[in-house]
Amino acid sequence: MADDHRESKEAKEFGIGIPVAPHTYYLRGLDNVDWGMKDRLARIFDPRSARTVMLAFDHGYIMGPTSGLERIDLTILPLVPHADCLMCTRGILRASVPPVHRKPVCLRASAGTTVLNELNDECVLDLEDAIRLNASAVAAMVSIGGPFEAKTVRNLVRLVDEGGRYGVPVMGVTAVGKDMVRDARYLGLASRVCAENGAHLVKTYYCSEGFERVVAGCPVPIVIAGGKKLPENEALEMAYRAVSDGAAGVDMGRNVFQADNPIAMIQAVRAVVHDGAKPGEALELYRGAVGSGSPRGRRTARRGQ
Ligand code: 5RP
Repeated sequence: MADDHRESKEAKEFGIGIPVAPHTYYLRGLDNVDWGMKDRLARIFDPRSARTVMLAFDHGYIMGPTSGLERIDLTILPLVPHADCLMCTRGILRASVPPVHRKPVCLRASAGTTVLNELNDECVLDLEDAIRLNASAVAAMVSIGGPFEAKTVRNLVRLVDEGGRYGVPVMGVTAVGKDMVRDARYLGLASRVCAENGAHLVKTYYCSEGFERVVAGCPVPIVIAGGKKLPENEALEMAYRAVSDGAAGVDMGRNVFQADNPIAMIQAVRAVVHDGAKPGEALELYRGAVGSGSPRGRRTARRGQ
């Protein structure tokens, strides 16, 4: 027994004299959050690029069966392997997304009025249900300057409090009302308000003038929404400019799932976000995939009905 003890002591190597390498977290503004939250964020943002391609298909919660989202099983599931993170509601997650894809989920956690009414009169779900769904983050709409500004900021604050308790990051989604201009001044203000109130990441819109100021003024990662469907070259150009200006990726919906070839489109977006492809190169990739008759996601699925 005494001999055993002596042997194992001799075999040990404590690396005396080798300093322990300091750890700095790779996402801006998030050094001081807890381990679990960092781990969840590392599932969303690829540590190799510090960026993400999130696939947003939560539109139904305000818009009903949006074009391209009528049948999640046919149009979205083929895209799942190509996304870094899925953004959807708990209803769609449970009903239409099999729990076998091993992708992190950013759960839409606020809900209220629809496009048939004044938007953004919302409440938030109980974080316990997000945890039950193994969400890697939760997202709440924040309507700065809108009639429900205080209510939506309160929703964000509540999720940040609860998320902090359980290590679940919160994404503030800057809502844009009908009459609001999507300029750098407004988007910068709205994004900053989200971060000041504790959002760990912010989703906002790209603006062609001054987006770098929107990013610089927001101390946590920003991802951009794609907005309404654009021609593929314009959507790729927007993604390219956004990441060049400092965005940590995209949370794109319609410009992917409404594209003529959604799988080719999400792959082209990935090339821009993760591999630094220029918009022209990404468009070539897109066209090449279309030309080569690679799987076409939505259209293939429809033909197979
Ligand atoms: C709606 C959302 C959507 O998820 C968001 O708009 C992203 O989708 P798209 O790229 O189609 O704009 O947050 O409030």
